Amino acid sequence: MLAASILQEVESGRRLDVAWEASGAPAAPDRAWIRSLTFGTVRLRGRLDHLLTTVGGRTPAELDSPVRTALRMGAYQILEMGSVPGYAAVSQSVEQVKATRSRAAAGLVNAVLRKLVAMAPAPSSGASPGVPPAGWGFPDPAEDMEGYLATWGSHPCWLIRRWIGRFGDAGARRLVEANNREPATYLRPVGIGSSDAAQALAAAGLLHRAEGEGEKGGSGSGEPDRRSRRHVGRCLRLRRGVDPAAALQVVPGVIQDPAASLVADYAAPSPGSLVADLCAAPGGKALALSAEAGVVVAADVRPRRLQRVVEGAHRLNARVWPVAADARFPPLRGAATVLADAPCTGTGTFRRRPDGRWRTKEADIARLAAVQRRILEGAASVVPLGGVLVYATCTLEPEENWGQVRAFLKRRPDFRMEPGPAPAQFLDERGCLVVLPHETGPAGNDGREDVGRLAGPSFDGAFSARMRRARA
Ligand SMILES: C[S@@+](CC[C@H](N)C(=O)[O-])C[C@H]1O[C@@H](n2cnc3c(N)ncnc32)[C@H](O)[C@@H]1O
Repeated sequence: MLAASILQEVESGRRLDVAWEASGAPAAPDRAWIRSLTFGTVRLRGRLDHLLTTVGGRTPAELDSPVRTALRMGAYQILEMGSVPGYAAVSQSVEQVKATRSRAAAGLVNAVLRKLVAMAPAPSSGASPGVPPAGWGFPDPAEDMEGYLATWGSHPCWLIRRWIGRFGDAGARRLVEANNREPATYLRPVGIGSSDAAQALAAAGLLHRAEGEGEKGGSGSGEPDRRSRRHVGRCLRLRRGVDPAAALQVVPGVIQDPAASLVADYAAPSPGSLVADLCAAPGGKALALSAEAGVVVAADVRPRRLQRVVEGAHRLNARVWPVAADARFPPLRGAATVLADAPCTGTGTFRRRPDGRWRTKEADIARLAAVQRRILEGAASVVPLGGVLVYATCTLEPEENWGQVRAFLKRRPDFRMEPGPAPAQFLDERGCLVVLPHETGPAGNDGREDVGRLAGPSFDGAFSARMRRARA
C-alpha cells in the first residue's frame, strides 16, 4: 500500500514532503485521500501512540517498524477519517501486516484496532472530538498541561515546555491546536494582478468559496469577511483538495503561505533594483520578489534544491538568476537588498511539515543559530552603504530570531533596523515582522476572537528583520 511505504520511508529518516513527492501518488480523488492519511498519521503520531499504548499495553516504539506503522495508520483512519468504516480499516491494516510479518503480529494489530473501533466516536461524526473523552487515558489539561499537549496535542515534550514557558498554558494550547489543523493552500500571483488571478481561479473552480456563497460567487462578492477568507494580502486561497500544479497552470505564481508572502512584502526592494537572495531554494520568495525587483540573484548551497528555482524561473519567465553558492561567501556584492532566509528549526511550519516536530531536537536550536550567525555575517559583508539586509526564518524560537538579530546589531553598529511594510498586527515593538500561527486564524479553545482583518485559517510562523547599512 502506497501510504504505508511512504510512512516507512519517513520512519527510516526521509522527509515526509520528499517521500510524498517521490511516491508517484495517483491522481484525484485517491491522491487527496492518501495525502490526508499519511500527513495526518504523522501529525497526530503522539496522540495515536498514547492511545495505542493505553489500549494495547505496549508503546508502539517497542514494536517492529511495519507493525507500528500499520497500527498508527489504522488508528488514524478509525479516529479521524470518517470516510472509512472502522472494520475496513482494521482488515486493511491486518492484511498489510500479514504480507510481511508473522501471524502473531497480524493478530496483535487486529486485537488492538478492534478495541479502538469499540472506543471511537460514532462513525457519523467523522473525526475524533476536540477534547479526549474521559476514559481514553489522556492527562487532564487543568492538572497537567504539558502532558496533555504532548499526548493529545501530539508534540514533543521539550517543545511544549518551551512554548508553555513563553506563551503560557493557553497560548501554547492555541499554538498546538493551530499546528494540528490541516493548512489551507495559497497561491501568490506573480506578474498578474490579484483580481484578475482570482477571477481566473474562480472561473476554473479552483478558488476557495466562503460558506454560504453561491455557485456563481466569482471573486468579487465585495463582502469583506468573504474576501478576507480568500485574499490574504497578495495570496489567494485555493479550494480544499485542489492540486496546486493545476492552479499554477491557470495563474502564474507561486504556492506560498501568507506568512512567507508577508516576508517578501516586508523586504520591500526598490522597484527595478538588484536583489540577492542568498538562501533561495525552493524559490518562493525570490520569484515573488522578481515581480518588484529588477533582477533577483537566487543563490543556494544545495544544487538539487536550486533546480526548483530554475524550474520556477523558467515557468514564470522571471528575471531570476540561480547560482549555486554558499551564503557565507556570497557570489556577488553591491545588491541593493540582500535577503538571508536562513536554514532554521522551522517550528513555525509544523502544520505543513508535520514530521518536523518529531525530527527537530532541542540541540538543533543552538546548532542552527551558529549556522545562521555565519550566514548573517556573510550576507552583511556584501551589503553596500545605504543597502538593506533582510534576515528571515520560519521558526518561532527566539534564539534564532530576535536573539540572533540583537547580537548581530551589537557586532555591527553600522546596521540599523528599518522595518518594511506589514500589517501593524505583525510588527513587534522593534519593527520586526513576527507571525505566530496561533495569533492568526480561528479562535482557539479559550474563546479568543479572530485576529482582525486576516481572519480565516491560521498561517505558518515567520520572523524577519529588515536593517539598513549606514555609517557606524
Ligand atoms: C528556509 S530555506 C529558504 C526558503 C526560500 N527562501 C524560499 O522562499 O523558498 C533555507 C535554504 O537555505 C539553504 N542553505 C543552507 N545553508 C546554506 C548556506 N550556507 N548557503 C546558502 N544556502 C544555504 C538550504 O539549502 C535551503 O534551501
